[in-house]
Amino acid sequence: MEKRLMHAIQYIAYGGGSNALKHVEVPVPSPSKDEVLIKLEAASINPFDWKVQKRMLWPFLPPKFPYIPCTDIAGEVTEVGKGVKKFKPGDKVVGLVSPFSGGGLAEFAVVKESIAASIPPEISAADCAGLPVAGLTALQALSKSIGIKLDGTGERKNILVTAASGGVGHYAVQLAKLGNTYVTATCGARNIEFVKSLGADEVIDYKTPDGAALKSPSGKKYDGVIHCATEYPWSIFEPNLSMNGKVVDITPSSSSMMTFALKKITCSKKQLVPLLLIPKGKDLQYLVDLVKQGKLRTVIDSKFPLTKAEDGWAKSIDGHATGKIIFEF
Ligand SMILES: NC(=O)c1ccc[n+]([C@@H]2O[C@H](COP(=O)([O-])OP(=O)(O)OC[C@H]3O[C@@H](n4cnc5c(N)ncnc54)[C@H](OP(=O)(O)O)[C@@H]3O)[C@@H](O)[C@H]2O)c1
Repeated sequence: MEKRLMHAIQYIAYGGGSNALKHVEVPVPSPSKDEVLIKLEAASINPFDWKVQKRMLWPFLPPKFPYIPCTDIAGEVTEVGKGVKKFKPGDKVVGLVSPFSGGGLAEFAVVKESIAASIPPEISAADCAGLPVAGLTALQALSKSIGIKLDGTGERKNILVTAASGGVGHYAVQLAKLGNTYVTATCGARNIEFVKSLGADEVIDYKTPDGAALKSPSGKKYDGVIHCATEYPWSIFEPNLSMNGKVVDITPSSSSMMTFALKKITCSKKQLVPLLLIPKGKDLQYLVDLVKQGKLRTVIDSKFPLTKAEDGWAKSIDGHATGKIIFEF
């Protein structure tokens, strides 16, 4: 039987940025035993997606060319694998496509049941499509790495979120405020009011001397830092940390890996820990439920149709998104 075809975006070699994205017709994938096939309504882009294209995850990703990028998708289930129990055709879901198979920037994509979550009727696919990588990273950093209890029952902690206007940062500020925290945040001048509206208690412009030094305006020492910006040496963090302060670096460089090792070996109370996202469906469902309860929102920087996917790709590479860049289908 002839395979059904769908519109997809792919690239065939490393590099080239948005100009290297090609619009193609490829067969609709089939779900394996533990997967669901989703007809996409929305997808979101993360810096991870273009870092793969830039060869920054070589030799692991992509496994081969041609490669259909993007992991974060939301839409309607049209088919389920034989072993799938949680979902049925017609359900709305958000999920994370395996970067090892690729396939998110297409009309249809498959995700494992274990890293998908149900979308209730009152929220849109676009409101959920930003959650998988950025939302789960913020959640993992706050709750697992720093130990913030998001029901507010933990002891009071001072948290710094860097690049709080970005995809991960804007979720991190909102989630941190669900816990018992005082949140300091950094962002550019144009986003200060926006980041305050997310709940940050104090906001610093990263281009000012105090911002560059990550100094809290009220003199707070940070118990935890969700570090979403890049290129800050340990010497900037160290004087701003409380006695047991911990920096969670979500974009660890080789020098931060050295700091991590050094702090471990010397049993330092102040620590820097690298974070690699370990996505779980139940955590994703937790985030979707927070959106439903009005406790978490996805701020959408801009939306692009699949026909203009290269414009969204270029905007993400540019690095100045406020919230999430979304593709709509
Ligand atoms: N470890 C993991 O598993 C994991 C998971 C997710 C993301 N990440 C990484 O985390 C980083 C952030 O991701 P993202 O999705 O949040 O990126 P993003 O949405 O592209 O971030 C863009 C935002 O960051 C702000 N920004 C840039 N440099 C800044 C600085 N020095 N201080 C304050 N704000 C700054 C920009 O503000 P302006 O426009 O004002 O400059 C912009 O609003 C990326 O490197 C990504 O690869 C890692």
